[in-house]
Amino acid sequence: MSETTRRCVCPGSFDPITLGHLDIIRRASALYDEVVVAVLFNPAKSGQGMFSVDERVALIEGAVAAEEIPRVRVVSSGGELLVDLCTREDVCAIVKGLRSGTDFAYELPMALMNRHLTGVETVFLPGAPAFEHVSSSLIKEVHALGGYGLDLAPPNVAEALQARRDA
Ligand code: PNS
Repeated sequence: MSETTRRCVCPGSFDPITLGHLDIIRRASALYDEVVVAVLFNPAKSGQGMFSVDERVALIEGAVAAEEIPRVRVVSSGGELLVDLCTREDVCAIVKGLRSGTDFAYELPMALMNRHLTGVETVFLPGAPAFEHVSSSLIKEVHALGGYGLDLAPPNVAEALQARRDA
């Protein structure tokens, strides 16, 4: 890509990616020349999670390909700061979806800290109302306890969750 490529990052734990995440990635792709989806470590989410980092990356790649969302690249980064990834990948903005005021309260300190560290800006997109109640953790919990929430996950993720429960 040219030196004037406007690149953003959509960061998250993505354990696993949901339809809400995918909606934000699709909309970011309409706003920027390239979207880097970054699977990062969230120290506040203890334990290993359900899917390994490599599995999360593969699930995101599969979901993005199935939806034919253009100009998306998926990366992972162990214990790195998001701002360091932003510098290395030369991104001009962090894009995050907001489902509610609770999300805003959670995201605002991180956005301010990231700007404090390197000046990188965070752009918030309003989450689609249809996905207001959708989170990776709720989908996993509902599915593990026998409920049906798999229609809120991309089809390849629904398959992976089903396979994990059947194993
Ligand atoms: O999907 P999540 O768990 O809400 O995403 C949070 C995430 C992974 C984006 C955040 O924890 C993060 O940026 N982790 C990387 C480490 C970092 O930069 N921490 C300082 C944030 S100000």
